[in-house]
Amino acid sequence: MLIEGKVAIVTGAASGIGRATAEMLAQKGVKGIGLVDMSESVEELAREINEANPGNPARAFIGDTTSSEFRKSVFNSMRDSFGAVGILVPAAGITRDAIAVKMNRESGEASIYPEEKFRLVTEVNLVAPIYWSLELVAQQAEERAERGLNKWDPEEGMQGAVVFIGSVASQGNKGQVAYASAKAGLEGATATLSKEAIFHGVRCGIIHPGFTDTPMVRAMGEEKVKEYILPYTEIQRLVRPDEIADAICFMISNSAVSGALWADAGWHPHP
Ligand SMILES: NC(=O)c1ccc[n+]([C@@H]2O[C@H](COP(=O)([O-])OP(=O)(O)OC[C@H]3O[C@@H](n4cnc5c(N)ncnc54)[C@H](O)[C@@H]3O)[C@@H](O)[C@H]2O)c1
Repeated sequence: MLIEGKVAIVTGAASGIGRATAEMLAQKGVKGIGLVDMSESVEELAREINEANPGNPARAFIGDTTSSEFRKSVFNSMRDSFGAVGILVPAAGITRDAIAVKMNRESGEASIYPEEKFRLVTEVNLVAPIYWSLELVAQQAEERAERGLNKWDPEEGMQGAVVFIGSVASQGNKGQVAYASAKAGLEGATATLSKEAIFHGVRCGIIHPGFTDTPMVRAMGEEKVKEYILPYTEIQRLVRPDEIADAICFMISNSAVSGALWADAGWHPHP
């Protein structure tokens, strides 16, 4: 599928993997790109992209991806400016790490991972990415109906692609009961949407990045990175965000690729 000329949305576009992906999609000539983030710095990124690319393709949207109203307004605005959205990379994500059940030896009481945190992590990392993808499929379906089309025909060429951002943690990682559940849940969404969304000419895949050099991983602290991550990667360094962006663009443009792609530099959760 040609990325050039398509309309894209990237969430979490202010930082890390989302930002690198947005920049790469812009370089590859998208007609329009919606840059979504809670952080106002997406406006700066939109300015940079518009200065470097003809046709002012970038629009910044500041808001929370878990809000349905915000999500709908972003999709409507992109459709009004550029046409139906065909590419989605819902990269906004958070971690709230803690051991699932922690024993206090002094009091003899065990505390369990707070439910509010579990709900927040799954809202941001699981529910929101899925609903952003459903919005894309709905827009494609409506646009097809307007053109008098129903079931997608391969002769038409691929219409769209969604790439969810999973994680190596989806295989289980200490301290990440909520995050791992959310990322593993995206596998089920990918498998189901791969079967459903192709009716409208949309493919769906999931990438599982390994530890990537972004603020999310830097927040772990240099010592932890040196001790738990670097020795277990083939490349002895963190993955670069542009390496993940490159793999995402490959998944979008190569329609023979389906399901999950592991871009983890060989790191797997320890027993
Ligand atoms: N960095 C890694 O090693 C790694 C590995 C595997 C998967 N991932 C996943 O990749 C994605 C991007 O991670 P990153 O490392 O680039 O993180 P990051 O912290 O650098 O960027 C995440 C961005 O998402 C935004 N965001 C968070 N919650 C939001 C919300 N509710 N609404 C709008 N914006 C919101 C933040 O403001 C931030 O700009 C996440 O889904 C993360 O789980 C990262």
